[in-house]
Amino acid sequence: MATRENNEKRLLSRVATSVPDAQSAIDRSLPEFPAATPIDEDSYFRLHKPPAYLSQISTGVASFINENHGRRRKIVLVTSGGTTVPLENNTVRFIDNFSAGTRGATSAEYFLEQGYSVIFLHREFSLLPYSRHFSHTTNCLLDHLQFSQDGERVEVDGVLQKDLLSVLAQYQKVKANNMLLLVPFTTVHQYLFTLKLIAQELSVIGSDALFYLAAAVSDFFLPTSRIPEHKIQSQEHGGKLVVDLEPVPKFLRRLVDSWAPIAMIVSFKLETDNTILIKKARTALERYNHQLVIGNLLQTRKYEVVFVTPDNEHWIRLSKDAAEHKVEIESLIIPRIVAMHKTWIESRETM
Ligand code: PMT
Repeated sequence: MATRENNEKRLLSRVATSVPDAQSAIDRSLPEFPAATPIDEDSYFRLHKPPAYLSQISTGVASFINENHGRRRKIVLVTSGGTTVPLENNTVRFIDNFSAGTRGATSAEYFLEQGYSVIFLHREFSLLPYSRHFSHTTNCLLDHLQFSQDGERVEVDGVLQKDLLSVLAQYQKVKANNMLLLVPFTTVHQYLFTLKLIAQELSVIGSDALFYLAAAVSDFFLPTSRIPEHKIQSQEHGGKLVVDLEPVPKFLRRLVDSWAPIAMIVSFKLETDNTILIKKARTALERYNHQLVIGNLLQTRKYEVVFVTPDNEHWIRLSKDAAEHKVEIESLIIPRIVAMHKTWIESRETM
């Protein structure tokens, strides 16, 4: 009986409530907003208050860059997870998106493996490099712990022993060498202010900086001037909640043109309709004028991506066998980007 209940519990914990129904997924085939201009930048950053903690982040980032570049390491900024759009100042409700930060956290580990130092700009409480292997959903650590025979200590069971040893060794090496800086955000405003700040700090190392923008950035927001201070009451406005959002300026163009003009920049393009993915990725590349767009579909993002460059497009796919053996697609993506970054640095040196 107990075994049946346990089995049922286990099955229930595997029900994936976050997997979308592909047939009813949103249609993104409408034309995109134009890239942000210097005027858009000026008005956005003037009209919105920077997060109170920004100067603290600035000091931490500057010293991380100084130390790591001093040790001749290249530095990648990995952005990860979803940004929220608060509907109230004392926030009870907010708009969010699906991203758990898997792409970002996984990619950060492969960059570290390649000798890069990583600034990990992530949604607070989303997945982190290394600890992601033992999150409550993937491999709940508590399910693999047991008491020692004398009941005085805790031991890891045989199933997790090998994985834990390997992940712990990598994590401790990265920590001992101070190669990973974790910088959190929650809202889209915090994300944009922090992205700009880090980009400007990174500009001192020129082409040794790499941007890998995997965060799912909200396309819409509620301007500060229209956010109510307190929780919206359900009896207000005749019991209806009508949300009127503005487009978030497409700051990728400002990043390329002004905040980090010599760095190599990689962005992601997410779609749900495979017939428009490559076209949208190419449009982004032309509009923002950066080096690489990695296209991915919500439904298949863990198994295939497409690299779109000004003169090429190239699919990277996990074979069925590799996917069954839990090979991560980021283990194929990152070495290619590292090679492209090397070429990028060499091309800048000869300029
Ligand atoms: O976390 P996971 O579950 O693993 O999911 C990973 C992912 C699917 C979120 C990731 O692989 C991914 O595709 N991230 C980019 C999602 C996204 O924001 O796509 P987009 O098409 O809305 O934007 C394209 C680019 O424009 C992004 O690089 C973004 O930084 C940039 N952008 C977006 C909005 C905005 N206002 N300004 C921008 O510059």
